[in-house]
Amino acid sequence: MTVGRAPAAAALLQVEAIVGRLSGRAALAEACRFLEASFPHYGWVGVYRLDGRELVLEAYAGPAATEHTRIPIDRGLCGRAARDGVTVLVDDVRSSPEYLACFLSTRSEIVVPVLADGRVVGEIDIDSDRTAGFDATDRRLLEAVATRISPCVVGAVGAPPPG
Ligand code: SME
Repeated sequence: MTVGRAPAAAALLQVEAIVGRLSGRAALAEACRFLEASFPHYGWVGVYRLDGRELVLEAYAGPAATEHTRIPIDRGLCGRAARDGVTVLVDDVRSSPEYLACFLSTRSEIVVPVLADGRVVGEIDIDSDRTAGFDATDRRLLEAVATRISPCVVGAVGAPPPG
């Protein structure tokens, strides 16, 4: 287990507090910062919004910017999560032909779709420098976070781009 159940529950409460206090992209940016700072195996945390056939980076927290600020829905692990509407978890990105590389240090990745009214509106994308960095507890936490931030992803439309 990489995130204990109690820290996961506490983290979810924090995300709920963020979403209660902020809206749109400001809430997404704060949620990314909070998750990245809270869990050492979360190396880079981003939120994309689905805009037509493209995923647009709305907020991120991590040591470096990604070149993948817009990802066509037919590309990458991000595209697959958006197309299928289910979480994609890859223990070793080096063995994934679909993987779009962002950082040389990345070993594992989880992409969790964000839904609104049953449709994919975006996703949470987290890279880890650890092989098999994410387990079922991470997945449950992030799927719960995805439901909480859904209105913020929808509300991020039209805001100025990050950083
Ligand atoms: N690795 C992703 C691209 C986004 S970066 O991880 C920030 C993918 O395969 O879709």
